[in-house]
Amino acid sequence: MPAIVVLGAQWGDEGKGKATDLLGSRVDYVVKFNGGNNAGHTVVIGAEKYALHLLPSGILTAGVVPVIGNGVVIDLSVLFHEIDGLEERGIDTSRLLVSANAHVIASYHRTLDKVTERFLGSRKIGTTGRGIGPTYADKMSRVGIRIQDLFDEKILRQKVEGALEQKNHLLVKVYNRRAITVDEVVEELLAHTERLHPYVADTTLLLGEALERDEVVLLEGGQATLLDVDHGTYPFVTSSSATAGGACTGAGIPPRSITRVIGIAKAYITRVGEGPFPTELFDEDGEQLRQVGHEFGTTTGRPRRCGWYDVPIARYAGRVNGITDLVLTKLDVLSGWERIPVCVAYDVDGERVTELPMTQTGFHHAKPVYEYLPGWTEDISGARTLADLPVQAREYVDFLEQRSGVRISAIGVGPERDQTVVIHDLLT
Ligand code: IMP
Repeated sequence: MPAIVVLGAQWGDEGKGKATDLLGSRVDYVVKFNGGNNAGHTVVIGAEKYALHLLPSGILTAGVVPVIGNGVVIDLSVLFHEIDGLEERGIDTSRLLVSANAHVIASYHRTLDKVTERFLGSRKIGTTGRGIGPTYADKMSRVGIRIQDLFDEKILRQKVEGALEQKNHLLVKVYNRRAITVDEVVEELLAHTERLHPYVADTTLLLGEALERDEVVLLEGGQATLLDVDHGTYPFVTSSSATAGGACTGAGIPPRSITRVIGIAKAYITRVGEGPFPTELFDEDGEQLRQVGHEFGTTTGRPRRCGWYDVPIARYAGRVNGITDLVLTKLDVLSGWERIPVCVAYDVDGERVTELPMTQTGFHHAKPVYEYLPGWTEDISGARTLADLPVQAREYVDFLEQRSGVRISAIGVGPERDQTVVIHDLLT
């Protein structure tokens, strides 16, 4: 029953596509289990660059069945925009399966996302504005619209009515916006049903059967550990479960089927949106990481906040997810620094701590305690084995592995599929 989870070990944008690429055609199913089009993978294949927001990256690998699981929230116009974009470039998307239980993002969710952020003012989360939070809120409040509802117009209308009842009061009386009509929402959603129909499936059943047949199921997490609604830096998080536990609920597979949990971490760290970030750099080092690492959001184009590698975060991600293998990405971005700081602990109000503080206040007060490692000047983008790396780069990797408490199984040295140093196979 090999189910393998791939997830971000930091604040997102770690380059999860690297791990998916390494597993490549040995995988039978690639399942997206959480989030929606707030994500952004960029996958580079030869001269082609693909920016995916909603579709699982497995859509690009021939023979793999890509699945959008029940834990995902789907903006249908984005889904078909991505499908059209890939089809135009000759990628076959007909294998895609969409869970009948996944929730749908409607225009009122996007509107509410934007107005609530504005209303929060200085307390804003810095969301992607894609309607993610309000859609998950409706799911939990049991007034959500699911993919299966789109195939029964009478039920859909009733559900939209129920969802809008309270929201229109809010929109009109609190946010000073116009009321949304049931008709316009029903029309917006029904516009996609015919095209959607062939993709819709009981994905939990199909994945369960695939695991019984010993096929390999890859579960691809959107966002990352510190953006998880339970285990992240709440409230500056996304609204879904981005950790390994979320893979079980968001795909409908049993925990005992998971054989491997692959965490992805950059050789430094970035974050988008608001919230505490102990190693954040505000100087030219931060700017250099941003420029060299092309640290601008795939979804919103926002410049990412950049900082040095944070060991307490890596240890935390390892523990919460049960990470068996860490893929360290973008090591090439660190070429050229004379010495590289690594945050090994925090100073929290005068006390040195090596684990994430228990409280939000503690994390806001955490100041990084650095150890400095010698840097290297060589271009390492051509390295394919550990022996190809300069000794300082190898020592940097060893140091991160020892301190993070998780073995490093692969190292990314460039954006191309083959620009990777593989230390341990991710499947066998
Ligand atoms: P939301 O997911 O749009 O509600 O945004 C909540 C927080 O998660 C914001 O700080 C976003 O910037 C962040 N976020 C959401 N998706 C991603 C992602 O794929 N990478 C990095 N940050 C993300």
